[in-house]
Amino acid sequence: MYRLTTLFLSVLMLAPAVLCIVSYDNDFVDPKYVISKSFNTSTAGSQQTIVEWADQLAAQGPWSVMNKTVDPPTGNKHDYMSWAPYSWPNCTGVGNTTELTPQQIWTTCPYYTRDGMFNPDGRLVNDTGNFQAMSDAILYNSIAWAITGSTNYSANVATYIRTWFLDPTTAMNPNLNYAQMARGPNGQNGTHTGVLDLKGMAKIASGILILRLANSSDWTSELDTQMTNWTTQYISWLQTNPIALEEAAAMNNHGSYYYNQLSANQIIVGDTTGAKNTTNTYFSTLYMAQINANGEQPLEAIRTRPYHYRCYNLAAMITSARLGDYLGLGSFWNMTTTKGGTIKAALDFALTVQPGDEAANELYPNVAAVAAQYGDPDGKYAAFLANADKTYPAQAYYLWDQPFSDSNLVAATPTSGGPSLPTSSTTATHNGALVSSRTSSIVSFVMLCFAIAFLNV
Ligand SMILES: *[C@@H]1O[C@H](CO)[C@@H](O)[C@H](O)[C@H]1NC(C)=O
Ligand SMILES: *[C@@H]1O[C@H](CO)[C@@H](O)[C@H](O)[C@H]1NC(C)=O
Ligand SMILES: *[C@@H]1O[C@H](CO)[C@@H](O)[C@H](O)[C@H]1NC(C)=O
Ligand SMILES: *[C@@H]1O[C@H](CO)[C@@H](O)[C@H](O)[C@H]1NC(C)=O
Ligand SMILES: *[C@@H]1O[C@H](CO)[C@@H](O)[C@H](O)[C@H]1NC(C)=O
Ligand SMILES: *[C@@H]1O[C@H](CO)[C@@H](O)[C@H](O)[C@H]1NC(C)=O
Ligand SMILES: *[C@@H]1O[C@H](CO)[C@@H](O)[C@H](O)[C@H]1NC(C)=O
Ligand SMILES: *[C@@H]1O[C@H](CO)[C@@H](O)[C@H](O)[C@H]1NC(C)=O
Ligand SMILES: *[C@@H]1O[C@H](CO)[C@@H](O)[C@H](O)[C@H]1NC(C)=O
Ligand SMILES: *[C@@H]1O[C@H](CO)[C@@H](O)[C@H](O)[C@H]1NC(C)=O
Ligand SMILES: *[C@@H]1O[C@H](CO)[C@@H](O)[C@H](O)[C@H]1NC(C)=O
Repeated sequence: MYRLTTLFLSVLMLAPAVLCIVSYDNDFVDPKYVISKSFNTSTAGSQQTIVEWADQLAAQGPWSVMNKTVDPPTGNKHDYMSWAPYSWPNCTGVGNTTELTPQQIWTTCPYYTRDGMFNPDGRLVNDTGNFQAMSDAILYNSIAWAITGSTNYSANVATYIRTWFLDPTTAMNPNLNYAQMARGPNGQNGTHTGVLDLKGMAKIASGILILRLANSSDWTSELDTQMTNWTTQYISWLQTNPIALEEAAAMNNHGSYYYNQLSANQIIVGDTTGAKNTTNTYFSTLYMAQINANGEQPLEAIRTRPYHYRCYNLAAMITSARLGDYLGLGSFWNMTTTKGGTIKAALDFALTVQPGDEAANELYPNVAAVAAQYGDPDGKYAAFLANADKTYPAQAYYLWDQPFSDSNLVAATPTSGGPSLPTSSTTATHNGALVSSRTSSIVSFVMLCFAIAFLNV
């Protein structure tokens, strides 16, 4: 027994770390930083993780709105559709004498909301999950291309963009008329909260900009023109549709995400003036009421899942601050709300709250982002992460949240000139000796993979 246990533990100690894919709430990664490749050697593990995540996601793609098996009310699968996640049918008043088919329930029973409680049938229509996987795949494949130089990754990005947005047989129509759709006799129309479903456009903008700025031969001028065309039409929907304008007026995380999505889209089409106005508008309006002097986010605290919502809105604020940096707007990181709060204060408050049943790691990318921006003179943020997650220097976010201490968790630093990542083909190589030699002290345990994705609500 003792021997078996020892053997088992030894195997665990030697096993390479293959970190579970985490879908961050949102982020925007500066393309100039990525293509400069002037990465600290302490980021070798995070580079490795990004390449692995790019491979794992690529094995699942491409994705399309045509993948869903349920038709939107228009009968046209090219229309994006998702169902309001907390919405439940109440069939008691519909004269139900025989068992109703799902389609009958969706259209005849009135629906009511139970905040924070997912209706499990919601993922029967998985445009949301597919868009999320696609946006992560674009982010990680574009960075993997920069890291490895393998055009497999840039070709993947081009394929995902073509399939989701542009190919006439698989493309999404440029609107969210049926996102987080209300069901029942008074429904069959999108709701404003569904605009959130496309928040990943900020990740997609990062990916496109990386290929574009580095002149990837896979980012052809035809692709660029067509994607600009699609995004221009979608921006017009975001700026004029009543559902979209309702989301723009939402005071909480929904409004935050509307603004960073709109700004990212304007960056994609080259409308820098528009993007600057959008990000400036967010920080001078909604942001001003979102953080108290003590760092509490009052509009998230009142929701049913406050730990999650504090993390979620922090990610949106951080993404907007990064967009502001990219647009050269001067730092929003120190901007103080009318209540006296800052992004850093909001992070410091969130750090004091116990996650309870929520996924604790939703906060971690925000901790690293704040530490990298404001510095970590007393080592508080590094100590928090080192305690919470010994693999943090191998997490993807660690690549772009620099400078930031690795808490000495990266033992074997490669020689100067930065890491040279495998250009060999197999995932087996990625997962093998190269990983364990680079991240040896991180690799002291094997993580079990949970499906970690923070939901769009
Ligand atoms: C989703 O649709 C795309 C485009 O048609 C297709 O390539 C892909 O195989 C589909 N995925 C699944 C899981 O059916
Ligand atoms: C369900 O509908 C019935 C009337 O048809 C109503 O009396 C009841 O309050 C409803 N329940 C909920 C949870 O809305
Ligand atoms: C409809 O009625 C049938 C039979 O009375 C019952 O089994 C079923 O659960 C009801 N469906 C709903 C959605 O209320
Ligand atoms: C929804 O899509 C995501 C990404 O493609 C996938 O991981 C997840 O399993 C899907 N969910 C369902 C219920 O099909
Ligand atoms: C991309 O092409 C432009 C225009 O030819 C050039 O100015 C720029 O230096 C190139 N960038 C890279 C990273 O090669
Ligand atoms: C832009 O997209 C629209 C609709 O998808 C299409 O009709 C039009 O030809 C496209 N324009 C260009 C320049 O590609
Ligand atoms: C759906 O919502 C849009 C935007 O508010 C509105 O213009 C349209 O009339 C609605 N359609 C239906 C069928 O209610
Ligand atoms: C700036 O952005 C806001 C919010 O999207 C919009 O209402 C306003 O019209 C824009 N102003 C200009 C000059 O584009
Ligand atoms: C905040 O302001 C201080 C003082 O102007 C400056 O030193 C610091 O770099 C700023 N921090 C960020 C994250 O912008
Ligand atoms: C690289 O990262 C290490 C570990 O966090 C740090 O000690 C070192 O100062 C960093 N080097 C540079 C040039 O930022
Ligand atoms: C790139 O793709 C080709 C063909 O699918 C494959 O043979 C090759 O091993 C891949 N290279 C890398 C670095 O993944």
